Amino acid sequence: RRREAPAGDARRGLTSTPKTMLPKYFYDARGSELFERITGLPEYYQTRTELGILRRVAPLLVDRVRPTVLVEFGSGSARKTRVLLDEMRRAGRLEGYGMLDVSESALRAAAERLVRDYAGLAIECLIADFEHPRELPFPGRRRLLAFLGSTIGNFEPDAAREFLRDVAARMEDDAFLIGFDLVGDVERLLRAYDDDAGVTAAFNRNLLTVMNRELDANFDPEAFEHAVRYDEREARIEMHLVSRERQVVRLEALDLEIVFEAGESLRTELSHKYTRRSVEALLEDGGLALDFWETDPDGRFALGLARRR
Ligand code: SAH
Ligand code: TRP
Repeated sequence: RRREAPAGDARRGLTSTPKTMLPKYFYDARGSELFERITGLPEYYQTRTELGILRRVAPLLVDRVRPTVLVEFGSGSARKTRVLLDEMRRAGRLEGYGMLDVSESALRAAAERLVRDYAGLAIECLIADFEHPRELPFPGRRRLLAFLGSTIGNFEPDAAREFLRDVAARMEDDAFLIGFDLVGDVERLLRAYDDDAGVTAAFNRNLLTVMNRELDANFDPEAFEHAVRYDEREARIEMHLVSRERQVVRLEALDLEIVFEAGESLRTELSHKYTRRSVEALLEDGGLALDFWETDPDGRFALGLARRR
């Protein structure tokens, strides 16, 4: 099944200067598969680092929040999630798990594995954009909300604040666990988005394949180079696809032609990097406050637990 047409988003992004695209369009079935491979790359330290912190603090978190339900934004393969589900089950309090993701294939596969492994667990799947959540699954229950993988860093700063305010408005006694990739050695950060095996480059170019299929476009993925930059001032990684030559791309579904000059780039992703202070400021703007903070021993990644102020 075709997903909601990205027509409006694509027109806006491709006709703006500089050209941009929303990252949610990375995640068709192939994109979700490629992302899963990224999480296992030697250069991509984030997933295993966050998993290590989760293992260490899950008992404390579950004890502190006492949730009966876990609700996760951008759950993807939900592999790390199991650490939380296992701890909730161990505490004898696990009743439900709600997952929100745009990737139907990832949701389906993850839900099937969970149904098999967690007998009696009520699973609610929402194939939806989590950016403006209307209602969260399992209202009225004590929920632990989770947003792992530093996916919050992929929002524009304004959108991140707005997202947090939207979620905060729907939180009752709930707590919100968020993964943050931290500011650090720039070479290490760059490598995490430009691996030797070229998986991230393939993931980046997959965005063009999605456009070709969903908007009848004629992007030649090989005519674009994968490029990664670090913006010190904004403390963020930027991912680009840089046109190797002057070219005109046609998007049939939009009746739109876009000119790329040689060296002109399409910005495909932002990945903000945080400090404890910048997280506190972000949460405050979002109507939340930091209740608990834990990093790995090398200070590369953090889990923050937020409550409504
Ligand atoms: N939580 C997993 C996956 C992170 S990748 C982990 O930590 O490894 C980001 C996930 O968010 C993907 O599964 C993608 O499909 C989903 N996603 C990205 N943008 C989204 C959006 N706007 N709405 C809903 N899901 C989105
Ligand atoms: N949330 C992840 C991050 O910013 C998403 C991500 C990892 C990503 N690698 C990527 C997005 C490569 C686009 C391209 O770390």
